[in-house]
Order: sequence, then C-alpha cells, then structure tokens
Amino acid sequence: MTLGELSCNCCAASCRFAELKSLSEATGCVILGKAEHLNPGLSVKDRAAAGMLAAAEATGKLTPHSGSGTIIEATGGNTGVSLALMAASRGYTCILTMPDRISAEKKATMRLFGAQVIECPSVPFSDSRHFYHAAARLAKENPSAVWLDQFFNDANWRAHYCGTGPEMWSQAGHALDAVALASGTGGTIGGLSSYLKEVSPSIAVFLVDPPGSGLKGLLEQGRFVPTPGSTITEGIGTGRHTLNFDVARPHVDAAVTVRDADAVQMAHYVLRTEGVFLGPSAAMNVMGAVMAAKTLGPGHTVATVLCDGGANYRSTIYNDEFLKAHGLSGAAAAGAAGYLPDLDDALQYSAAHPGTATE
Ligand SMILES: Cc1ncc(COP(=O)(O)O)c(C=O)c1O
Repeated sequence: MTLGELSCNCCAASCRFAELKSLSEATGCVILGKAEHLNPGLSVKDRAAAGMLAAAEATGKLTPHSGSGTIIEATGGNTGVSLALMAASRGYTCILTMPDRISAEKKATMRLFGAQVIECPSVPFSDSRHFYHAAARLAKENPSAVWLDQFFNDANWRAHYCGTGPEMWSQAGHALDAVALASGTGGTIGGLSSYLKEVSPSIAVFLVDPPGSGLKGLLEQGRFVPTPGSTITEGIGTGRHTLNFDVARPHVDAAVTVRDADAVQMAHYVLRTEGVFLGPSAAMNVMGAVMAAKTLGPGHTVATVLCDGGANYRSTIYNDEFLKAHGLSGAAAAGAAGYLPDLDDALQYSAAHPGTATE
C-alpha cells in the first residue's frame, strides 16, 4: 500500500479520543472529544469520503489507477478536501462544487490537491445556482462521471456505523452516557447514533444545531422550521431533508441550538486552556457536549466529535477583522482569557428557540 492509499484505506483507524479536562472539571462530567481533526485529510469527512469511494469501487463505478474515472461532489469544503486527497492517491479526476463563502484556506487546499473547484453563489437551496444543483447539473452533463452525493449516499452514515462508532465505544471503555453531535449531511450523527443505540440503548443522543438551521425544529415540531439568525460555522445545519439525517432521526433524544458567539468563545477557550485548535463546528459540538452535561448533571460521560481543526479558519474565527465584522470579538477575547460561555444562559437561549416559522 502506498502512503497515498493509506489516507483512503486506513483513515483514522486509530484516531484518538481525548478528555477535555477543564470542561470535565467545570461540569462534573467526563467530556470526551473524538479527534477527527487529526485524520489524513484533517477532518471527520475522511470517513464519508473513504466510505463512498470504497462503495463506488466495490460496485465497479470507479476503478483505481485505471487512467480514467471522474468524481463529482457538492461539498461544504471538508468532503472536498478529503476527496481531492483520495482522488490523487487513486488516479481520479475530482470536480467539486461549493458555496463561495467557504474559507479561502479550504478552497486553496482542494486546488493544491489537484481538484477542480467550482465556486457557486451562497444562495438558498431553492435557488438553481446553489452548489448542490450545480453538481446535479454537472453529473447530468457528464454521464460517465460518478456523483457521490454525500447527502443521500448510504455509504456516508455506514462509514460511521462501521468505523467511528465502534472506535468511540471501544475507546470510551464501553461506558458512555451521551453524545452531542451537529449534522451537515447527517452521516456522522446517523452512523454514530445507530451504532451507539444498538450497543447501549440508554445512551442519550443530543443534536447540536447552529442558528438558522431547521433540524431542531424538525425534531421538535416534525417539520423544518429554522431558528432565527444565520451561522458562521461551515458544513453543519440544514433546512432540507437528507437520507443520512433520516437515519439519525429516530435515535435523537434532544436538540440544542448553539449560538455562534458561544461556539467562538469555546474555540478560543479550548485553544488557550487545553491546547486544542478547533474549527467552528467542532467548537459548537464541544459547546453542545457541555450543555448536554449540564442538562444531565454531574457524574456522566459525554462524548462529541472534533470535526476539524482550526488551521482552515485562520481567516475567519481566528482573524480579528472577521471577528469584528461578525460582532464576535468579545466572545473570542473572553474565551482566550479563560472564561467559558455561560451555560445556564446558553441552555435558556436554546430552550426559548425551538424553531419557529414566524421568525
Ligand atoms: C467542518 C464540518 N463539520 C461538521 C460536518 C458535518 O458532518 P456530517 O456531514 O457527517 O453531518 C461537516 C460536513 O461537511 C463539516 O465540513
């Protein structure tokens, strides 16, 4: 096996599971983070990318090192980075569509890895210029190419059911009370929640939803109703149905909305106090885990996924101008000074915003 193939075939096999000690102390619980930001493609999306490529190869849609094979994918960024890396190691052409608001670092990385990057306007899903519709059009125009369609690809959640879930369960010593997970395609929460509920039905699954997303409303009211506002996080939250989130739906016990300011404060807090450098969705997951711990009370073990690292966000949540423009400077400064977000206030905010169609 070549070093490149290692990134496709062995992604994260021994990915670490680390305790965030200061958060354990603050909550009286054990707070654990699955360090997916240490994967070869530097995010949790290596799992989905490797799983979807393996499925396409197993069914003969793609053959590695055959001198042909084109992958098309619509991506919030990280799946694109993982696919670009894996395509390079397996000899595929990789064409990626994405919203233009994705961080400059991620777009540059995908191009560096050899992918063709198509930036689309950051518009609502109903707009035909949306990056998902752009991928669908490309797939229609190129019938020999393989559109992986991570939102509706079964291999996405199965990669977590077969990989991330068993690893997390074993690394936690078969003792977990809750997991707190955000959802983009729903692959991570779909696979993890199915696996964990199977091995231990008492594990509580908390959905962590960013402002503007409709998933908390879907769980609580049975239909998509967005919470107010919008988010600076990338790759999580949605207002539309996906196959992968449907897998998670019966397993989710509770949902919390996490404000961007609390996620940003948490990102800067864990960087300065724990030496863990996280992206915004991972920081939101950590905040969700701490909110879950506060809800459950002391003595519980709560796990989450550290979706990606902070390096791709040096131009966003680790950049003074960006923070200022989004009114997040105070939150970042408080986190960097060692202050955790106010958990009671965060839980109150979440409870007061169950997702309402009128806002
Ligand atoms: C940074 C980041 N965090 C979280 C997620 C969500 O993962 P999933 O698609 O498995 O729900 C994504 C998905 O693209 C992502 O890019």
